[in-house]
Amino acid sequence: MPGDVSVNWHVMPNAEELERAVAQRILSLAAAAIDGHGSFRIVLAGGRTPAAVYRRLAAADADWPRWQVWFGDERCLPADDPERNSVMAAQQWLTRVPIPPASIHPIPAEQGAVPAAAAYRAQVRAALPFDLVLLGMGEDGHTASLFPGHVHAQDELVHAVHDAPKPPADRVSLGLAALNDAESVLLIATGSGKRAAIERWRRGEDLPVARLRGRHGVDVYLDAAAAGLED
Ligand code: 6PG
Repeated sequence: MPGDVSVNWHVMPNAEELERAVAQRILSLAAAAIDGHGSFRIVLAGGRTPAAVYRRLAAADADWPRWQVWFGDERCLPADDPERNSVMAAQQWLTRVPIPPASIHPIPAEQGAVPAAAAYRAQVRAALPFDLVLLGMGEDGHTASLFPGHVHAQDELVHAVHDAPKPPADRVSLGLAALNDAESVLLIATGSGKRAAIERWRRGEDLPVARLRGRHGVDVYLDAAAAGLED
């Protein structure tokens, strides 16, 4: 495994069990953070996998006015495009609970990758450290919009991403310097499509996901299919 990091693997029997456990984990981390310092600073994952978790959070009871929300990455599409990670999270959860609009910090990716990354850097710098960074993983081992083979400045908090192998090609992503400056890092992956990347990660391949550290390690939630426990 590249550089010693504690990765806690949590294998759930199925996606539904995983979504229930992850939603519960997020709510308990939030309660502890709000107890500890009065607010909960969370970074949201994009893609499809977290949608069901967001729906569960929308139905939950929490001290929503004390939540502060950022995004791990965004697709350079119009602000109201349904393929935007911010739009997915808003539809599934954020517009259904009383988190103050001023506490939700979308990436202005509609401006284009370079200006949006520049604008978001200042917001992220002021927010660090995060309490929780929630991430997904692609079948090639990418996370947020950090793709295999892409090279970024190590200390850059937010990257402009071009030529992404997953459409759209232009994206904005938090860098490892930001994603790892978090009390908790939680990665979720479901389905047999993610199995090969999980195996490569476990074998020590230097995939983008393998560079996740957090301040205290990484918690990875898998369903049986992603963990390779289903034929
Ligand atoms: C994005 C995501 C990306 C995602 C993975 C997994 O904007 O596409 O942030 O990193 O988490 O590609 O996507 P799925 O959950 O849809 O499989």
